[in-house]
Amino acid sequence: MAEKKKLILNCDPGTDDSLCIVMGLMHPDIELLAVTAESGNLTSDKSSINALKIMELMGRSDVPVARGMLHPLVRPHPSDPYSHGQDGLGNHFFPEPKLKVVDKHAALVIIDEVKKYPGEVTILCTAPLTNVALAFMLAPEIIPMVKEVYHLGGSYGVTHYAFSNATGDNPMSEWNVYVDPEAADIVYGSGVKLTTIGLDVAFNPEWVNILPETLAKLEKVGSTSARYALEIIDYVDRNNSLPDLFNNGPIDTVSMCTVICPEIIKTKEINVAIDTSDSQLTRGMTIVDCRNHFMWDNLHKIQTAYTIDSALYNRVFFEAITGLKYDEV
Ligand code: BDR
Ligand code: CA
Repeated sequence: MAEKKKLILNCDPGTDDSLCIVMGLMHPDIELLAVTAESGNLTSDKSSINALKIMELMGRSDVPVARGMLHPLVRPHPSDPYSHGQDGLGNHFFPEPKLKVVDKHAALVIIDEVKKYPGEVTILCTAPLTNVALAFMLAPEIIPMVKEVYHLGGSYGVTHYAFSNATGDNPMSEWNVYVDPEAADIVYGSGVKLTTIGLDVAFNPEWVNILPETLAKLEKVGSTSARYALEIIDYVDRNNSLPDLFNNGPIDTVSMCTVICPEIIKTKEINVAIDTSDSQLTRGMTIVDCRNHFMWDNLHKIQTAYTIDSALYNRVFFEAITGLKYDEV
């Protein structure tokens, strides 16, 4: 049997983040080392509690949940313009969890896990990068020890959904970079192996919808995780910000599925800068230099997704939510 992928999930649940936790717990190829909670959709005191609620929903107490910074590195925490519901979990209003967060800061958990398994740990970030940047600043020696980082964040002009889906508080930025552009700048420029999946790709309804066949299979399975996924998909569908298009894909799950099955996306190298200015119009914007006649060599060189295999995404989504084979249901 192939070795499981060791994963730290840095997230801000959040409806779509919460499905990533479920997937990390359910998929047989993933060993979820820890969930580290960010201040993003909600501040980390609340997003960490939401992570614990999902652990209890899934009957799991073996994966530590750590709380991160209450605010971005140098800025106040902005309030979320895209609603994940009053409780951040699509208005499920789960009971207060009995489980507790671990008595260690999220950044220290990241440092310790990477040091415990040098070269083996993938960090998936479906949120701002505050905890990861802090870990890299506190212990820069871990940067070459990280296997790779995936970030669901930014928007790289790959599709025309780039700016119509901007979820930051200005027309040009994506939420996970907008909240803490300084942290993103540190991680993107750290030299760590980084793959980004921009919002224009992860929210492109041509690629990331959960298809009727997959929904029917989830209905048929009817387990706790399948039912929860259906409820979140329904919530996303009802709160669709693209009124003329069918759009039910829980954004962050694209990146979780990619960690499980990297063939879901195709990537290309880009040169990108992050706007860390105070501009009301462009703060948090991920600016790609596409010119072939003039290339600044001071920009971050990273990989970004430019397409998604929709059928494969659906298959992996189903298998990660249910722990069952797509073709056997
Ligand atoms: C990101 O913003 C959040 O609301 C989602 O959870 C996702 O991580 C998309 O811009
Ligand atoms: Ca998120």
